[in-house]
Amino acid sequence: MRPGNHTIDEARQGEAMESRSGGSRKLYLESYGCQMNFSDSEIVVSILADAGYSTTKNEAEADLILLNTCSIRDNAEKRIRHRLQRLKSGKKSKPKLKVGILGCMAERLRDQLLEEEKLVDLVVGPDAYRDLPRLVEEIEGGQKAVNTLLSREETYAEIEPVRLDDKGVTAFISIMRGCDNMCSFCVVPFTRGRERSRDPQSIVAEAHDLFDKGYREVTLLGQNVDSYKWNVDAKGIVKNEAEPVVRFAQLMGLVSEVNPDLRVRFSTSHPKDMTDEVLEVMAKKDNLCKYIHLPVQSGDSDVLKRMNRGYTREWYLDRIAAIRRIMPDCAISTDIIAGFCGETLEQHEGTLSMMNEVRYEMAYMFKYSERPRTLAERKFEDDVPEEEKSRRLAEIIALQKVHSKERTTVQFGKTYRVLVEGPSKRNPEDFQGRNTYNSVVVFPKGESKAGEYVYVRTTSHTPVTLIGELVSEAEAKAEGYIA
Ligand code: SAH
Ligand code: SF4
Ligand code: F3S
Repeated sequence: MRPGNHTIDEARQGEAMESRSGGSRKLYLESYGCQMNFSDSEIVVSILADAGYSTTKNEAEADLILLNTCSIRDNAEKRIRHRLQRLKSGKKSKPKLKVGILGCMAERLRDQLLEEEKLVDLVVGPDAYRDLPRLVEEIEGGQKAVNTLLSREETYAEIEPVRLDDKGVTAFISIMRGCDNMCSFCVVPFTRGRERSRDPQSIVAEAHDLFDKGYREVTLLGQNVDSYKWNVDAKGIVKNEAEPVVRFAQLMGLVSEVNPDLRVRFSTSHPKDMTDEVLEVMAKKDNLCKYIHLPVQSGDSDVLKRMNRGYTREWYLDRIAAIRRIMPDCAISTDIIAGFCGETLEQHEGTLSMMNEVRYEMAYMFKYSERPRTLAERKFEDDVPEEEKSRRLAEIIALQKVHSKERTTVQFGKTYRVLVEGPSKRNPEDFQGRNTYNSVVVFPKGESKAGEYVYVRTTSHTPVTLIGELVSEAEAKAEGYIA
C-alpha cells in the first residue's frame, strides 16, 4: 500500500517523514494500520511542530518516539508489542528517551498499557491529539501521561497537516472520523468513537492548498465515506435552512471542481450506503478516478447478517450491477474475512462464488481475528479452527490471484493518462504512476517528471503491473486513451 492511496494494510510502517526545521527536540514517528492513521500522523506532526518538535528519520537521534498504532486484528497489536520490546534496548542506552503510543491501541487499552509496557510514558487516543503539547510537557517532567477521551466533534478541521510522504504528488484528506456501524467483528467503533463529518469548506480549502503546492491526487478518507453528511443530522433533519446540505456525492462534486488536473479518489465505501447518485457524479468527471473499494467481507447472506453488515449477498450484487451500469469500466476492489464465527464450508464457498461473479481487481484478505468487546466476541463462538481459517484464506488468495491477473490482461494493450509518482521500485531509471483504475504503470522516464500527467501506451505486463512507453498527447488521442 503506497502512502497516498488504497486501504488497510496493518503494520505498514510509515517511517517516511520530512525533517521539519525549527524545533530543537527530535520526534521519530512510526505509523501502523490504515490510511486514517497515516493521515492522523500528519496532524500529530503538525501539532508537535508548534510545540517545538522537529521530525527525524533517524531513530537514534530521537528524544521522543511515537508509535501510531492499530488494533484491527490481534497480530496488528502483537507487532506493536514486539516493536516495544526492541525499543527497550534503545531506552537503556538513552535514559531520557520518551516513548508514546498513539492511535487505536492506545484508545483500546488506555492506562492498562502503562501497566503492561513499562517503557511507555505516554498514551494518547485518536481524538486527543490537540492535548499532545501539554502531555509531552508532563512526560518531559518525568511523569506518565494519558488522554484517551473520545469526542463527538473533533475533526481537526483547521489543522494543517505536515505531509510525511516526501514525493509531493498524492495526499490524504480526512473527511470524517469514527464509525457508527457496529459490524460485529470490528474494533473501530470502540477505538475511534462516533461518526462525525468535517466541514466541507475546510476539505475543499485543503484540496486547493495541496493543488497549489503541486499535489495532483487526493484520497478522501473515512471509514464509511458514503455516510458523509454536513448540515443534516443522522435523522435527515436539516440543521441550518440557509446553508446547503452536503452529502458525499456533493462533496465529491466540490472537490472535483478544485482543478480538472487534481485526481480524486476515496476510501472506504460501504455497500449498504453507496448511492447511485455518487456513481453518477463519478461517471461525469474524468478526474474522479474510476476505482471503488467496496468491502464485501463475505459472500453469504447469513454470515453477513451475523457480521451486522446491513446488506445481503443480493444487495451487494445489486450495487455491483449499479457500478457496472453507470461506469462499465470501473475497477472494483474489496476486503474479505475468512472463517468468521459459524462460517460453514458452504458459506465459505459463497464467498468464492461472490469473487467469481464480481472478479475483483484487487482484494485485502484476512483470517477472522476475535476482538475484545465486539458484538461477535460477546455473542458468537470463534469456532472455525485456526488451520481451517488458513486453508480457506489460502483458497481465497489463490482465486484472487487469478482474478487480478485477468484484470491486468484486460487493461493491457490500451493507452492511459498516467499521473507520475516517481521512480519505479524495481528500476530507478523507470518511473511509475497509476492509471485511473489505480493500476500501477511502469515506463522509461524520458523527459517526464513526478507530479506530471503523461500518456503511456502499454506494451507488456506482469501479473499485476502494466509496463509501457511514453507517447505524445496527439498519439494518445489517436489511440483513444483512457483518461
Ligand atoms: N470501514 C471499512 C473497513 C475498516 S477495517 C469497511 O467497513 O469496509 C478494514 C478491514 O479489516 C475490514 O474491511 C475487514 O475486512 C478487516 N477486519 C476488520 N476487523 C477484522 C477482524 N476482527 N478480523 C479480521 N479482519 C478484520
Ligand atoms: Fe468497522 Fe464496519 Fe465501521 Fe468498517 S463500517 S470501520 S468494518 S464497524
Ligand atoms: Fe487499525 Fe484503527 Fe485503522 S484499528 S485499521 S488503525 S481505524
